[in-house]
Amino acid sequence: MLQGILHYAHYLLEGSIDKNETVIDATCGNGNDTLFLSNVVGKNGHVLAFDIQDDAIIATKQKLEENNRTNVSVIQDSHANLQAYIPTNEFLIGGAVFNLGYLPKSDKSIVTKGQSTINAINTILQYLKTSGLIVLVVYHGHEGGEEEKEIVLKHVMKLNQRKYHVLRYGFINQRNNPPFIIAIQKR
Ligand SMILES: C[S@@+](CC[C@H](N)C(=O)[O-])C[C@H]1O[C@@H](n2cnc3c(N)ncnc32)[C@H](O)[C@@H]1O
Repeated sequence: MLQGILHYAHYLLEGSIDKNETVIDATCGNGNDTLFLSNVVGKNGHVLAFDIQDDAIIATKQKLEENNRTNVSVIQDSHANLQAYIPTNEFLIGGAVFNLGYLPKSDKSIVTKGQSTINAINTILQYLKTSGLIVLVVYHGHEGGEEEKEIVLKHVMKLNQRKYHVLRYGFINQRNNPPFIIAIQKR
């Protein structure tokens, strides 16, 4: 069976992240991916979960509390500033996920932006373990979405193929700008 976008994103992450690792949810929103990652790394692992807006931070903290998760740092800051939360130069990240776009049922003017997304990708790539993945779920039907999609695609298509595998996965016969996945694997 062909996997849907969100299932496939989780499948990729689950297959590449090990227990006890530190991983990143770059856009925690309602905390769905944060909770998923928290389960994947287990109680001795750690999730750094970023979002810039109050609603997302509140929703994510609530979801984690309801599920008794204690292995997550919820950080109200842009993922563009991620470097500040990385403890040492030798530090390794097990994997990362981004959901680009806006928080469903919330303020649609607060959206991810191409340049900050690229800055965050570049920082994570420096610390990503070998064979680790950055998975981006690219929603692009909203205002500004097309622009971000083009900026991010242009950037990842230029990543050195000797250092990274870059995959695009999506359904090409769906209407209304269906989301797709970009997955970057460090070789
Ligand atoms: C599509 S939603 C994420 C959905 C989330 N993964 C979930 O499971 O609910 C995108 C989120 O990115 C956040 N965001 C926008 N710009 C950001 C930035 N520069 N840094 C971190 N988060 C950002 C938005 O506030 C929004 O909550």
